[in-house]
Amino acid sequence: MSSSVNYHCLAYAELDVCNPLDMATIDAAVLRTGLKPGARALDIGTGNGAVAVRLAEAFGLAVTAVELDPAMADIARGRIAASSAADRIRLYQARSGTVLADLEPQDLIVATGTTDPAGDGRLEPAAIFTALSNHLKPGGWLLWGDLIWTGEPPEPVRQIFELTNRFTSDAGTRSDARAAGFEVVHAEISPQAAMDHYLGTADSAARAWLADHPDAPEAAAVRTSADRVRMMFEFGGDHVDFGLYLLRRPPV
Ligand SMILES: C[S@@+](CC[C@H](N)C(=O)[O-])C[C@H]1O[C@@H](n2cnc3c(N)ncnc32)[C@H](O)[C@@H]1O
Repeated sequence: MSSSVNYHCLAYAELDVCNPLDMATIDAAVLRTGLKPGARALDIGTGNGAVAVRLAEAFGLAVTAVELDPAMADIARGRIAASSAADRIRLYQARSGTVLADLEPQDLIVATGTTDPAGDGRLEPAAIFTALSNHLKPGGWLLWGDLIWTGEPPEPVRQIFELTNRFTSDAGTRSDARAAGFEVVHAEISPQAAMDHYLGTADSAARAWLADHPDAPEAAAVRTSADRVRMMFEFGGDHVDFGLYLLRRPPV
C-alpha cells in the first residue's frame, strides 16, 4: 500500500459494498427502478467503486462516481479499470459538491453511507434529501443508505455517533424523505449478520495490517480509527441499524 494508507481504505479494500449491505440487495433495489441501459447514475462517495462498477456492468447505466479520499479513489480507479464496463464509468476524485454543481440531472443517485453526500457540509438527512432532489430528473430515483436509530438512544451514545454522523430513526428518515418531496418506494433494514460482517471484516483488515506494519508511520492513526469504530459499536451498536431506502422524485 502507498503512504496514504488509512483505516477506511484498509477496511474497504476487503469489502464488496463498504456498508452493512450485500450486492444482491443493491441489485434488487436498482431492478425496482426499471431504469434502462444508458440511464444516468451518480454514485456519491463510491468508496472502493464496487457499486459503481455493478451499476455499469449489470444494468448498463452511464455512471459518474465521486470519491473524496485519494487513497480510496485509487482503489476505485483500479476496480473500474478492471471492469468490462470501464468505458461507462467516469470517476472524479473530488468532494461531491464540486461535481454536482456541473452535472446534468440524473436518473439515479446512489448515496450509501456517505456522511456528507451533497458535499456542502450539511449532515442532516432532511437537508441532504432536499439538496439531492434538485439533481434528479423528475421521476428520478435516490438510493439512500445510512445508519438509523432503533429508538431514542441514551444521550452519551447519541453524542459519540454525532461526532461524525447525523441520522434519524426509520420513521424519521421516511418523514424527512417525504418532506423533501420523495415517495418512499421501498425500505429495508439490514440484518444484524450484515452489520457483524461489515464491522468484523473492516476490523480484521485493519488489525492484520497493523500486525504486519507495526512501525509504519500510519500505524498510530490506523489503530486509533480501528479502536474508535470498535468502541462506538460496542458502546452503542444496540441502538443503531442500517436502513436502505429507495426514494422517487415524482414525475411531473
Ligand atoms: C462508507 S463509504 C461507502 C462507499 C460506497 N458508497 C459503498 O456503499 O460501498 C463512504 C465513502 O464516501 C466518501 N465521501 C464522504 N463524503 C463525500 C463527499 N462529500 N464527496 C465524495 N465522497 C465522499 C468517503 O470518503 C467514503 O469513501
